[in-house]
Amino acid sequence: MEVIIRDSAEEVSILGAQIVANLLRRKPRCVLGLATGRTPLLLYAELIRLHQAEKLDFSSVSTFNLDEYVGLPHDHPQSYQFYMRENFFRHVNILEESTHVPDGCAADLRLHCLEYEAAIKEAGGIDLQLLGIGSNGHIGFNEPTGSLSSRTWIKILSEKTLKDNAGHFRTPEEQPQHVVTMGIGTILEAAHCVVLACGVQKSSAVKAMIEGPVSSMCPASALQFHPRTTVIADAAASARMDHPEHYRWIEQHKLAWQKYS
Ligand code: PGA
Repeated sequence: MEVIIRDSAEEVSILGAQIVANLLRRKPRCVLGLATGRTPLLLYAELIRLHQAEKLDFSSVSTFNLDEYVGLPHDHPQSYQFYMRENFFRHVNILEESTHVPDGCAADLRLHCLEYEAAIKEAGGIDLQLLGIGSNGHIGFNEPTGSLSSRTWIKILSEKTLKDNAGHFRTPEEQPQHVVTMGIGTILEAAHCVVLACGVQKSSAVKAMIEGPVSSMCPASALQFHPRTTVIADAAASARMDHPEHYRWIEQHKLAWQKYS
């Protein structure tokens, strides 16, 4: 894994956006895998800024989001469809029909999951998958002890994740316990995975993902098998790792073409 440590969440986000922007400039018709949650908000803000200031062009891009809550309609403020529209899509020149977020209200959810996988394949596969990491090591909504080769499916959230995200909902009854998420197997097929991690609450999961054994207890550790994963973590999220000086050494000695592409 490529591990990049930055002082602040802002620096993490700007570097993440730079990697996405570099891909867009190199391959305008690229397929992006997108994430939601608190972590990528600044990255989306930076991509919007690049669109406005430097005309970064999203007109040929297609996107596939990682996950969605079961039962929340598209216009629900906590749905990820709503999040993506408000925080990113409506601010850039992306075509609505090129954006895909799993439909948590699909009449036949199981069929929808199969169709979502097929749509990713049909688009040519994901060039760059953005990921956050849960404090319990989940990526997408793939919770600990789930299969490390799972595909897009309906999953049950762990109590830890429900607790971490409870603040987004007015009442516990409103918070869905089921989600549709790309599986670990789906994520591992992306050409490049970029994980953003910010804040001390992620520090144990970040250590387990990078330095721990590969284990379904930390689903993100499956990325150790991925040929090209970049983790960008702020100082707080990196605090528990045993080898920060090694990651800095590697970063300093990369050849110019290897950096942030
Ligand atoms: P967060 O969520 O960015 O809101 O912390 C990350 C995740 O659960 O993947």
